[in-house]
Amino acid sequence: MKLTILKETSPGETRVAATPESVKKLVGLDHTVTIETGAGVAAGFPDKAFSDEGATIASSAGDALKGADVLLKVRAPSAQEATSYPEGLTVIALMNPFGMGDLLTAFNGKKLNTLAMEFTPRITRAQSMDALSSQSNLAGYRAMIEGATLYGRALPMMMTAAGTVAPAKVFVMGAGVAGLQAIATARRLGGVVTATDVRPAAKEQVASLGAKFIAVENDEFKEAETAGGYAKEMSDDYKRQQSELTATHIAKQDIVITTALIPGRPAPELVTEDMVKSMKPGAVVIDMAVATGGNCKLSKPDEVVDINGVKVAGYSNLPARLPADTSSLYAKNLVAFLPLITAEDGSLNLETDDEIVTAMILTKGGETVNERLKS
Ligand code: NAI
Repeated sequence: MKLTILKETSPGETRVAATPESVKKLVGLDHTVTIETGAGVAAGFPDKAFSDEGATIASSAGDALKGADVLLKVRAPSAQEATSYPEGLTVIALMNPFGMGDLLTAFNGKKLNTLAMEFTPRITRAQSMDALSSQSNLAGYRAMIEGATLYGRALPMMMTAAGTVAPAKVFVMGAGVAGLQAIATARRLGGVVTATDVRPAAKEQVASLGAKFIAVENDEFKEAETAGGYAKEMSDDYKRQQSELTATHIAKQDIVITTALIPGRPAPELVTEDMVKSMKPGAVVIDMAVATGGNCKLSKPDEVVDINGVKVAGYSNLPARLPADTSSLYAKNLVAFLPLITAEDGSLNLETDDEIVTAMILTKGGETVNERLKS
């Protein structure tokens, strides 16, 4: 197969869909790899590092796409970019499948075969391909680092000759992949950590990281996890009880990190304006869900808002703040996935009934084929 990697064009995107290490693996599997010049620079991978592993460097996106079978990207192309692609190209990316607008029309207009990495099923066989997990993991880590940086005090307890510094209290709301990594990072930094979630499975995972679990554990909580491992949207009554439980807790926290998402729905609002106003000056809220509506009423994408001395930060693309690592894991996810659409003779084969591939295909030959986008 001829694989192409383009320079990302979304504002602020620093990641790239290949690394020298992934190129080496792909070339070793007899694929040819073409990379648009400069595609890896923002992630710390210059052209030479790719060409040293056998990639061809193309001077423009158009040149890189000539004769390509598969385009590997981090983010979905714009409708305009998709329209410029060769007809019938296969494109694999983090497509943001529930927020595509008229992109599907552009894809189908060019008969692009498109696959969304977000739709990798959460089954054991697909774990190595799970880009949502690989990116969320590092994003959770980075959220805690950003929180620690904005917080004007130390996190661990420190006993010095001049006196004792109290440990910071960190509260993580949503203990999925990102939240668990935020908890682990906060613990490593010496914070006193509590966490909440609506899925019962999170309780044990939070405890295993040495943090205390706080949640409304009623009948609805017992059934909040879907078969896919995600959270359901909770009832208004549950949300009210959750809000009552967390309000007094949040008032005592130094750093609150919110990570709660519901696939295909706006993020649940967990931190109200009154809750932010109840926090001490110097406290920090990091809203990891800001790109999908936000878990905190007051967060704004890519801004740090000051509310009476409380900093509310919303980073819309945390994985782009550590692009060498996130690109590396994402490229590994792609390398793990590609064999599922490679025929024995090495050519592209989308005619497969592999459940991982069928879950990820959005459009094929001019039609939207994904059931999750049809409903
Ligand atoms: P996510 O990114 O969709 O959501 C983040 C967290 O927010 C989740 O834990 C969710 O339960 C929580 N949440 C949603 N609404 C909430 C609310 N109102 N209040 C508090 N918390 C709320 O979820 P993520 O991180 O993608 O993981 C979901 C699950 O899937 C986890 O259990 C994870 O371990 C599991 N998983 C399984 C994999 C597998 O291969 N078996 C791979 C990756 C994740």
